[in-house]
Amino acid sequence: MNWLIRTFSSSIGKKQIMAVTGLGFSSFVLIHLLGNLTIYQGREAFLSYVEKLHSLGGLVTLAELGLVVFALLHIGLGLILFVQNLQARPVRYAVKKRAGGRTIGSITAPYTGFLILVFIIVHLLKFRLVDKAATDDFIILSNTFTQVGYVFFYILGVIVVAVHVSHGFWSGFQTIGLNHPKYMPLVQQLGMLFSVLLGAGFASIPLYLFTTL
Ligand code: HEM
Repeated sequence: MNWLIRTFSSSIGKKQIMAVTGLGFSSFVLIHLLGNLTIYQGREAFLSYVEKLHSLGGLVTLAELGLVVFALLHIGLGLILFVQNLQARPVRYAVKKRAGGRTIGSITAPYTGFLILVFIIVHLLKFRLVDKAATDDFIILSNTFTQVGYVFFYILGVIVVAVHVSHGFWSGFQTIGLNHPKYMPLVQQLGMLFSVLLGAGFASIPLYLFTTL
């Protein structure tokens, strides 16, 4: 219990929780992308993936609950650290001291984080929190991505996700202790590769459906 209070009240503890929840969310996003890519095998393959996912029943509900808890912790602690950083100005040591220096990803992290929240709310309203009795995920995808506005919204959204992850990936590993100077450049490059593949993979789906349907 003492450990929990110490973790939540110290700056490094908050960053460690942000790192674990952020890396957890990144794993979900990667799995989500791999599942969604079944769309390239056609409607049947995509719907069979969705069906298999839903057949996991309680496990999916548990994973969803985990995602909500992770999101709340990540956003809540991120906001607290953001405000504390602002109050600590002009002595903004927290970011400058880091081995990777300041990047677009790190400077914009609080703002891209907020935009991702907006993106996820719209995304859930569109794809998750809908009555699917008379429709299915493929019909929803097709209807959405034949509208140019949504195609732009999704492409911009996933670019923002990629920029946020480009910082979060190496920063998260650094915070949880993988900060050996020898390996940091490699972790940074892997983070960059991961975020580019993530952004390109997700962005390809609305583009593909828009151009082929
Ligand atoms: C082109 C990009 C994307 C497509 C086509 C897509 C597609 C979908 C679909 C079809 C669902 C509903 C699945 C179901 O019926 O259970 C869904 C749920 C979800 N998506 Fe996406 N998604 C995309 C990008 C993203 C991104 C970038 C994120 C996160 C940053 C994200 C987060 C989520 C979450 C949290 C859920 C709810 C998961 C659940 O409750 O089981 N999605 N997405």
